[in-house]
Amino acid sequence: MFIDELSLFNFRNISKQTFHFENKINIIFGKNGQGKTSILESIFFFSITKSFRTNAEKTVLQHEKEYFDISGKFKANNSNMLNVRIYFSQAEGKNIFLNNNKLKKYSELIGVFPAILLSLEDLELIIGDPRNRRRFMDILLSQVNPLYLQHLQKYKKTLQQRNKVLSLINTGECNRSALEPWDDRLVTYGIEIIKARVILSDYLNSKLSGFYQMISKTNDTISVRFKSNVTDAKGNLNKNQYFEKLFKTVDSDIIRQRTQTGPHRDDLEFLKNEFLIKAYGSQGENKTLLIALKFCESHYLKEKLKEDPLILMDDIFGELDIYRINNLLNYLPSIGQTFITTTLKNKFENSGLKNPGYIQIDRGAVLQ
Ligand SMILES: Nc1ncnc2c1ncn2[C@@H]1O[C@H](COP(=O)(O)OP(=O)(O)O)[C@@H](O)[C@H]1O
Ligand SMILES: [Mg+2]
Repeated sequence: MFIDELSLFNFRNISKQTFHFENKINIIFGKNGQGKTSILESIFFFSITKSFRTNAEKTVLQHEKEYFDISGKFKANNSNMLNVRIYFSQAEGKNIFLNNNKLKKYSELIGVFPAILLSLEDLELIIGDPRNRRRFMDILLSQVNPLYLQHLQKYKKTLQQRNKVLSLINTGECNRSALEPWDDRLVTYGIEIIKARVILSDYLNSKLSGFYQMISKTNDTISVRFKSNVTDAKGNLNKNQYFEKLFKTVDSDIIRQRTQTGPHRDDLEFLKNEFLIKAYGSQGENKTLLIALKFCESHYLKEKLKEDPLILMDDIFGELDIYRINNLLNYLPSIGQTFITTTLKNKFENSGLKNPGYIQIDRGAVLQ
């Protein structure tokens, strides 16, 4: 997938601007606070139908404006042209158009414009709490499998309902049998979610070392462990066992008014040579792992969707040594169309990159 043209209207500090991009590498440079990240944010918007910086559309709407309107002209690997437009107004909310047809559900767009994003905030994925890693798995799996997204949404709803019932039991307003229908649904959807995540973590496990070694030029092996409080010690999963585990914690669930068993507590662990990276990794190793993980993500999307994802890299090069930067830059064009934001244009001018496009951003506009 390639984006040829992007038009932004009232998006963050960008009032009105059209951008044209190169098929391979685009370097978006400029001082801090000029709108570089906002450009990536808008491209990624088409991928996940929302911002990666906020869940509230209002926050990306330019201050004191009524609406924002962003559109992209894309070319798929099979040369089909696709255009997408997202319009948001305070009064109407968000409307999404694909080839000028208004979508009934936002989820119809998921997987159409695959993209991966790399920013330093993403380090939370490596060192932050498990929620980050579940979100990573969920976004990735939803993009390649709409059914996963459905199961996930149903699971979350069921979980909320079950927790409500737990509260009612806690206060004596209903009895335990009220849990039964919710438990059935919880297990039905939960098992589908875990199954998909197990397969994904096997995939990551098979690929991660290779990417890590390519970027760091070390022989370190990286492994991935999927953690679930539903599977058994060998990682096996079946319905009866899931029910058993759910029953085991039901007393304390009622006291806490919260369900403790299930995929909403899943996690991924990354190990370097058998040691937990979260506990022992250096900053440079964490960053290398993050990039390797994103490369796995892009390969996964490419394999499953038969489409090259866009690669968005937000200001990550300032933090890496020149050695790792060059390893990365040599590899990037083989993955897909790439967008790199930076305050340091000369780092790239001296890197031997072949024909990158340069776009300079100044106060929300392209500087000609
Ligand atoms: N809703 C908004 N309306 C107007 N300006 C905004 C809005 N949100 C953020 N900004 C401003 O947009 C500018 C560009 O932000 P950003 O894209 O993160 O810059 P860069 O990545 O170039 O450092 C910042 O100065 C920020 O304060
Ligand atoms: Mg930025």
